[in-house]
Amino acid sequence: MTASDGAPPDDRPLVPPPAAFEGRVTPTADDRASFDADWPDAWATAADALDWTAGYDRVLATDADGGPPFEWFQGGELNACANCVDRHLDERGDAVALEWNGHLGESRTYTYRELHAEVNAVAAGLRDLGVNEDDVVTTYLPAVPAVVVTMLACARLGAVHNVVFAGFSADALATRMERADSRYLVTSDGYYRRGEAVDQRRRADNATMSLSYDLDATVVVDRLGTDPDVDREGRYAYDDLVAANADATVDPVSRAATDPLFRIYTSGTTGEPKSVTHTTGGYLAQVAWSTERVLDVTADTTVWSTADPGWITGHSYGVYGPLALGATTVLTEWSPDAVDRDRPWALVEDLDVEVFYTAPTVVRSFAKWGAEYPDRHDLSSLRVLGSVGEPFDAETWAWYFEHVGGGDCPVVDTWWQTETGAVLLSTLPGVDGAKPGSVGRALAGVAVSVRDGAGDPVGPGVRGWLAVDRPWPAMARELATGTAWGERVAVESEALDDADAPSDEDAGADAGAGAGASWWYRVGDEATVDEAGYVTVLGRADDVVNVDGRRFSTGEIEHALVEVDGVAEAAVIARDDPDSGNALVAYVTTDDDRTDVSTLRDALDDAVAAAIGAGARLDQVVFTPDLPKTRSGKIMRRLLEDIANGESYGDTSALRNPEVVGELEARHDD
Ligand code: PRX
Repeated sequence: MTASDGAPPDDRPLVPPPAAFEGRVTPTADDRASFDADWPDAWATAADALDWTAGYDRVLATDADGGPPFEWFQGGELNACANCVDRHLDERGDAVALEWNGHLGESRTYTYRELHAEVNAVAAGLRDLGVNEDDVVTTYLPAVPAVVVTMLACARLGAVHNVVFAGFSADALATRMERADSRYLVTSDGYYRRGEAVDQRRRADNATMSLSYDLDATVVVDRLGTDPDVDREGRYAYDDLVAANADATVDPVSRAATDPLFRIYTSGTTGEPKSVTHTTGGYLAQVAWSTERVLDVTADTTVWSTADPGWITGHSYGVYGPLALGATTVLTEWSPDAVDRDRPWALVEDLDVEVFYTAPTVVRSFAKWGAEYPDRHDLSSLRVLGSVGEPFDAETWAWYFEHVGGGDCPVVDTWWQTETGAVLLSTLPGVDGAKPGSVGRALAGVAVSVRDGAGDPVGPGVRGWLAVDRPWPAMARELATGTAWGERVAVESEALDDADAPSDEDAGADAGAGAGASWWYRVGDEATVDEAGYVTVLGRADDVVNVDGRRFSTGEIEHALVEVDGVAEAAVIARDDPDSGNALVAYVTTDDDRTDVSTLRDALDDAVAAAIGAGARLDQVVFTPDLPKTRSGKIMRRLLEDIANGESYGDTSALRNPEVVGELEARHDD
C-alpha cells in the first residue's frame, strides 16, 4: 500500500533530544562510526554482552564471495533461557522480571527467582511429556504469564517455540502447526476479549483434529476456571505440571548460535503464512543490544511493550530483550486502546513504567480519546516512548511527545519486521534528533538503501524500494541461508516513480539478487531517504498490508473470499484510514447477477474470520460486475486503491475493460 502524497518535505528541522534526557542515555554516540570502521567484527560487542557456554570462532562466516550462507557467531554455543533468567539470579534474584496485568484487573508479579522456578518446572514437565531438543512446541494462549514461561522453558530445552496469536482461527492454528510438524500444544480453556469469555478449547480441538497426525501432548492453562478436561488421553493441566515439578531443575541445553530459537509465522505476498525462523545467538545478541541502545533499557528499567506475545514485537521487546538485560517487563492481557481510557495511564503510574513501546494505531486512539486521560495521571516515570509497525505521522508523533511524554521523553520511531528480528532503523534517544514522519537512520552496523526497480540506488528524496544492504545478526535464518522463501514481489510497474520499475515478470526475489558483496534484501516497503540518511517509509509496496499494526496478506484474504459460495473473484486492497492506518476494502464479483448481496456480506465476514481470525475485518465490500484487469489478466490493484482513496488515477489504457472504472466509482459511493 502506497501513500500517494509521498515524502514530507525534507527541510523540516530536527527535534533535538529533550534536555532532560541528557546524561541518562547509554553511550551510543560513536557506535555508527565504530561499526562502520570495524564491520562485521564490531558486532562482537552485542554478542559479548551475553553469556556463552562455548565462545564463537568468527563473528560472521560467509561464502568465499562474502555472500550467503551467513553464520553469525559461528562456533559459539549458548542457552537463551540461561541468558534471560539464570544469569540474573545472583545479583537480581529478587528483582521483578515480569509484571502481569490481566483482563479483569488481576495482577501477578514474578521475581527472577520465581520465574526461574516456574520455567524449570514447565521445562521438566515438557521433557517428561517427551519434548526433546528441536521439537516444535506451539502455544495458543492469551497474553498470560504461561506464554512467557513456556517460551523460556522451550529455550531451556533447546526446543523451538511456535507462538500463535490466541485470536487466530482454528484453521490458522492448524496450518501453523502442520507446517512446523509441531506435536505439542500449550493452550488454554479460554480467555477474555473485551469483557467476554471466549472458548479457546473448542477452537484448539478443531485445529488438532484436522491435523494429519496425532499430537503427543496438549497442555491446558486454566484461564477461565472451567473444567480443563484433562482426563482425556494426552491432555494435561498446566497447573498440575507446575505443581508436580515444583522443585525440579533442568540444565539449560547448549545450543549452537545458529540453532533455531523459535519459529513465527507472518504474512507474505502469497496467500500462505510465511514461516520465519530466528536463531539463538544472532537473534538474542542483537535483540538485547537494540533493547539497550534504542529503548535505553538497563537492568533497573521497567518496560512495557504493548504488543501481544504472538507477534515479533512481543518476542523481541516484550520477552527476550528486556529479560536478557535483567529488566522488568510488563505484560498486559489487554490492548491499551481497547480498555477503560484511564487504565493504560493508571498502570504506567502504578508500575512506574519507564519505557513505553506501542504502535501508531494505539497512539491515534489515545489522541482521539483526548489529552485529559494522560493529563490526569502522573506519568513522570516515563523516559522513552517508542513506536513500531506502521508509518507514524508527524501529527500523532507530536501528540505522543507532548501528552504522553510531557515534552521531555524522546520518541523513537523504530522500523523493522518479523524477518529482521530486531530494530534496524531508528533514531537513538538522547543522541539523534527526531524527524517526525520519518523513521530515522540505519542503526550502527546496519546499512540500507532505497533502490529503483532495476536494483540501483536512487538519490535523496526519490521514491523506491527499501533494501537492507548488509546482513545483520538477528536476520531470519531463511535470509541467512539464502533460502529466503523464493517469493517474488508482485507490484504494478507504476508503483514506483521510475521508468525501470519491475514488471510482474521480472521482479527479483526478495533476497539479494547477486551473491557476495552485492547481496541485499528487498524488504517490501516503499521509502525515500534524505541527505542525512533519515528514511521515510511510505508503506508496503507488495501484497502485504498493515491494519491496526497487524500484518495481513491481501492474497490470504482474497483466498478466503473466493471460497464463499456465489463469489467469482475478489480483490482486496487497503484504503488510508485515519484510525487504523489502513482499512480493508474488498471488491467482489459474483457468479451470477444475484441482487441480494446482503446475505453474502455476512458470509464474507465469516469466511475471513474463520480463515484468519476475528481481527481481520473488512471495512467495506464493493460488489461489482467486473474487476479492472490488464491485458494479461492481472487485477490492477493500484487502480482500486486510487478509487477507494478518492484519488485521481492515471491512464487506464492498459486496461482490458476500461468501462469498469466508472462502474466502480459509482458503486463505491453506495
Ligand atoms: O511495512 C513495514 C511496517 O511493518 C512491516 C513489518 O511488519 P511485521 O513483520 O508484522 O513487523 C511489525 C513489527 C516489527 C514493515 O515491512 N513497519 C514496521 N515498522 C514501521 C513500519 N512502517 C513504517 N514505520 C515503521 N516504524
